[in-house]
Amino acid sequence: MTLPRRGPARGSRLTAIAGLLLAGSVIAPLGATAQTAPPPPPPYQDPDQPVPARVADLLGRMSVDDKIGQMVQGERASATPADAAGHRLGSVLSGGGSWPAPNTAESWADMYDAYQREAMDSPLGIPLIYGVDAVHGHNNVHGATIFPHNIGLGAANDAELTEDIARATAEEVAGTGIDWNFAPCLCVARDDRWGRTYESFGELPEDATRNAGVIDGLQGDALNGPASVMATAKHFIGDGGTTGGDDQGDTEVSEAELRRVHLPPFQEAIDRNVGSVMISYSSWNGEKLHGHEYLIDELLKQELGFSGIVISDYNAIDQIDGEEGFTAEEVRQSVNAGIDMFMVPEDYAKFIELLRAEVDAGRVSEARLDDANTRILTKKFELGLFERPLADRSYLQTVGSAEHRELARDAVRKSQVLLKNDGALPLAKDGGKIFVAGKNANDIGNQSGGWTITWQGESGPTTTGTTVLDGIREVAGESTEVAYDREAEGIDDSYGAAVVVVGETPYAEHEGDRPDDLRLDEEDLATLEKVRATGVPTVAVLVSGRPMDITEEVSGVDALLASWLPGSEGAGVADVLFGDHNPSGKLTFSWARDFEQQPINVGDGKDPLYGYGHGLSYPAS
Ligand code: GLC
Repeated sequence: MTLPRRGPARGSRLTAIAGLLLAGSVIAPLGATAQTAPPPPPPYQDPDQPVPARVADLLGRMSVDDKIGQMVQGERASATPADAAGHRLGSVLSGGGSWPAPNTAESWADMYDAYQREAMDSPLGIPLIYGVDAVHGHNNVHGATIFPHNIGLGAANDAELTEDIARATAEEVAGTGIDWNFAPCLCVARDDRWGRTYESFGELPEDATRNAGVIDGLQGDALNGPASVMATAKHFIGDGGTTGGDDQGDTEVSEAELRRVHLPPFQEAIDRNVGSVMISYSSWNGEKLHGHEYLIDELLKQELGFSGIVISDYNAIDQIDGEEGFTAEEVRQSVNAGIDMFMVPEDYAKFIELLRAEVDAGRVSEARLDDANTRILTKKFELGLFERPLADRSYLQTVGSAEHRELARDAVRKSQVLLKNDGALPLAKDGGKIFVAGKNANDIGNQSGGWTITWQGESGPTTTGTTVLDGIREVAGESTEVAYDREAEGIDDSYGAAVVVVGETPYAEHEGDRPDDLRLDEEDLATLEKVRATGVPTVAVLVSGRPMDITEEVSGVDALLASWLPGSEGAGVADVLFGDHNPSGKLTFSWARDFEQQPINVGDGKDPLYGYGHGLSYPAS
């Protein structure tokens, strides 16, 4: 269903402008009918003008302060609509977990519109662009559909499905007004100890390249199309290749390897006209990316020809000199390196002041400001923000819709990877008895992982959807007895099968780095042992953001399913457990036989427990 985008149609806005001009310039005497035509709007306000002409006209009307403001993105908790307009901010973001109260889609649309009305009310009436991380659905919003994280979509190996998920995400995002999504992460995760492994589609560049259709799903056929949202290829470059999987660490590789492993997804993104690229916190051979003129200006902008917006990461310029906070030198270095938009959530006023001083001193040229503003304004015009700045609330109905949830459940099914099966799967729906246990069996927060409602995500009933246990109860059918206890209290050998759902609890970014081990926690190990001791055929389901070190446990279970981070529609796992969907997922990560193998990747000569591409199916019945 194609719905119009963004509230009142273009015509009504132009009529409104004309009406204002008329009211201000001509008061016809009583009874008179002659009226002078309103002056034409300035070219930049005329949607019939080509975008380059609109950009040039507007740029010519902007002061240095206007141009500097456009390059700065504040965070909603520190920049009210009045603050944003007062500082001429070009953009505002919601960081992970930064939502209006109440956290409803409607309330998001109200918040967004408040920012836009204030922005449009400024002298030049430049709309702002609002960014969020909708990395697996509109995941900050309570009740939104939460899709599997990228590691599961990589295993599903279904590029069309990935694009459909992005389109559904764009609809839910657009309903709340938001125009800019800091997704997809096109990182190539090379070390499972990295806390962002689950944001990666796989350990090879082609895993990311194959799923770059996220960009098309988000951006649609045109940025001003119905429910189109600007995508962001992130994080340029080498974020997944740091030594030891150290988040924001150092990618110590040759330029040849950097180009071979980490560059292809960005080339693909540029070929798909991605609107923005986010720079990585990480370093390359000791030099922070955020100050790297060769990689940003010469490689990304010149060699690859990227013409969209280059945005910094959150407070990332602070890290260039290794000291807390940012300095005039870091502002100058990152601007001159080619970054166009600066994610400075709190200290945006200080950034503006320092950059102004650098421009006045001639250390940052106005030509650089013009390049950045040309890129930013071009996207704002292409998005149609000047004509339709307000949320298109007709898409609110898509948030958490049954249609989107069914799409998510299908993605959950296809993302499951069956690692081992000695015959315990598929489970029978024959009226027998099934025991379900494990800390991740009945926990929508754990099965959704990080970037869900809050930045880090959290355990518990954080949003709406179905847990793995809900799914088992639904799919097993009325005649099957399903018992549940998180720690398997009450299990005995009268049960025909046991499903133990174990794994990780939510985390995001560096909080998820695991430099010391990838073992199951004590609770999981105890639950597995308790169940194993009964002799009941045991199915272990691993809900985690990466391959874990489960070699010692594999021999003690009859079947092992990698479920990854399925999101809000956990019932999709049950569809596979009962054979309603024959498992089709394939590993896009080499599964280490032991922790000391890390990092382990295709072609490195190491012997994995399960190799890249591994994934079993049920035998034909
Ligand atoms: C975070 C992440 C980045 C995200 C940004 C805004 O630190 O590195 O992926 O888009 O900040 O939330």
